[in-house]
Amino acid sequence: MSQLPAFLTHQNGELHLEGVALSRLAREHGTPLFVYSRAAMLASLAAYQRGLAGRDHLICYAMKANSSLAILQTLVRAGCGLDIVSAGELERALAAGVQPDRIIFSGVGKTRAEMRRAIEVGIGCFNVESRAELDVLDEVARSLGRRAPVSIRVNPNVDAKTHPYISTGLKGNKFGIAHEEVIATYRHAAGCAGLQVVGIDCHIGSQITQAGPYLDAMDRVLDLVTAIEAAGVPIPHIDFGGGLGIDYNGDTPPAADDLWAQLLARLDARGFGQRRIMIEPGRSLVGNAGVCLTEVLYLKPGEQKNFLIVDAAMNDLPRPAMYQAFHRIEPVVPRSGDGMTWDVVGPVCESGDWIGRDRALNVQSGDLLAVLSAGAYCMSMASNYNTRGRAAEVLVDGDQVRLIRQRESVADQLRMEVPLA
Ligand code: LLP
Repeated sequence: MSQLPAFLTHQNGELHLEGVALSRLAREHGTPLFVYSRAAMLASLAAYQRGLAGRDHLICYAMKANSSLAILQTLVRAGCGLDIVSAGELERALAAGVQPDRIIFSGVGKTRAEMRRAIEVGIGCFNVESRAELDVLDEVARSLGRRAPVSIRVNPNVDAKTHPYISTGLKGNKFGIAHEEVIATYRHAAGCAGLQVVGIDCHIGSQITQAGPYLDAMDRVLDLVTAIEAAGVPIPHIDFGGGLGIDYNGDTPPAADDLWAQLLARLDARGFGQRRIMIEPGRSLVGNAGVCLTEVLYLKPGEQKNFLIVDAAMNDLPRPAMYQAFHRIEPVVPRSGDGMTWDVVGPVCESGDWIGRDRALNVQSGDLLAVLSAGAYCMSMASNYNTRGRAAEVLVDGDQVRLIRQRESVADQLRMEVPLA
């Protein structure tokens, strides 16, 4: 069994996050409940900051991983810029107090309205993913009498060796501009009056657990930078994307500072050590800082399978249903003895609504479970399926607890709807 994530410990026979007993939080705020450790987020960020110390760099947290305002504020105040993918994320980013020029805008489908707003507030960079998008951005910027800062996302055709749904740097993916078209696209961009080329970027996938794919992608991007600059277009910054994995189930991704020691050595060896570096990590900053607390509703032993029905579901924790993803599940107050093997499932009316399969757990109805590694891509992907309100969220800091999102009520959900007369 692998170790518990940092800042999650057993004290007096029960799970604590930092100095706070999880059972107390469940009692006070109800379940399902997301609980995050501020110290864990800052420790993850510190590893990147150590790794890039002394270099001209900007760490733009990919806020799609968890875009709750207090999480953004925590990371922004600790020095992060933000990587956004929609007008909604842009407004959240501004509400969190980030300086607009520390925002980069990623994604294959930016609308004209999104481009306009982002230019008006003065974001730092658009990561453009197609020739068609480049031309629309040029037009929108010119109509505003402005030059939009652009970087072109290149598809380095590198296998990130991760789940196909979260692998993005291969030829068959919808992302980025193909290697062969990159130089012509930069030449074109450099000639557009509404565009200012400020960099190049790539992102090869998510939950990457080896350094190899990063080194391969870096080599290909540096080859391109050399060729683009030889064609007369300077490339001020290089954005190496996000994607570093976390330990869900004994995974052993490199630590961010170790990874960057290797990448910087390669960068230096190739003569790019002085270049401004940008990165877009999401999961690795927040994933293991969060847990989801859920209460066991019913035990349903059966002939073929034993089901443990809990009050969290695929609308709260969509990753198992979407990617067959694994999250560890731990009793908040462990009982002695081995118990039985259970499929942990939610109340949603779908067989795909499972949270963990074949888990050995000794529990009774009313017990609390902690679903681990739930800080990234859980709350930000939560839905109202089955008219379930989205969970509440709390942030723990030492022995301090702060409610950062109220539980969504049915009234909240109905507010947007227009009934027939
Ligand atoms: N930059 C770009 C352009 C991205 O598309 C992503 C993630 C990131 C940065 C951040 O990647 P990270 O460091 O978090 O791996 N919902 C999936 C993950 C989707 C990732 C999408 N792109 C999951 O739950 O596994």
